[in-house]
Amino acid sequence: MARQNLETEILYGMDFIPRGSVPAPREVELLPSTDDRDAQPRLDEIEARFATAFPICESLSGATQPVFGEGNPEADIVFVGEAPGADEDRLGRPFVGAAGTKLDDIIKAMGLSREGVYIANVLKARPPGNRNPLPDEVDAHAPYLVEQLLAIRPKVIVALGRPAAHFLLGTHEAISRLRGVWGVWRHGEVAIPVMPTFHPAYLLRQYTIEVRTQVWNDMKQVLSKLEESLR
Ligand code: URA
Repeated sequence: MARQNLETEILYGMDFIPRGSVPAPREVELLPSTDDRDAQPRLDEIEARFATAFPICESLSGATQPVFGEGNPEADIVFVGEAPGADEDRLGRPFVGAAGTKLDDIIKAMGLSREGVYIANVLKARPPGNRNPLPDEVDAHAPYLVEQLLAIRPKVIVALGRPAAHFLLGTHEAISRLRGVWGVWRHGEVAIPVMPTFHPAYLLRQYTIEVRTQVWNDMKQVLSKLEESLR
């Protein structure tokens, strides 16, 4: 068993998956989307509109460029984080710093690739000193996230950390209570399952077997939900 776990870790090339836990299927077969909506032009239009409004809030005037989001416009999974940090602000891309490396590990452990999923944030401009988003900032930026989600219409949303979970689920419950339990993001007729989990930055700070197992269990639920939706 120990040997098998070691091989699993070598196979995935990372130590994220806690020893003793069951690996995910190496590849999740994701079928192409069945409808013919073309999300990319819509995403381009939303991005251009945000760029014109950037940074929207006076309180975010220190941000140097928009960080809109990136990935597969037809993705079955959208990961939603909190806000860009310094690295993301410098490169104009989401999750490219230390937390991004950990998110990459998680995606890879799921048998997926960064190019196959979509990654976005609630805030699309960096808050000074990486402080938590203010309610006014969420109010100003989140409509763009809503439009992104409506354009992509993923089968599952993963809420990375508290601000994303709070916005998507309309709750103020602690992330430790929310994580691991399916919620639903609703917008008009649209209802998409949301799996809240710990933010990769928290995982980095608390790189314990317990937290890694919790996040990995949450991701296995996401993979099961996807498999169910493809049946
Ligand atoms: N943390 C986030 O929530 N988003 C990023 O893009 C980077 C770090």
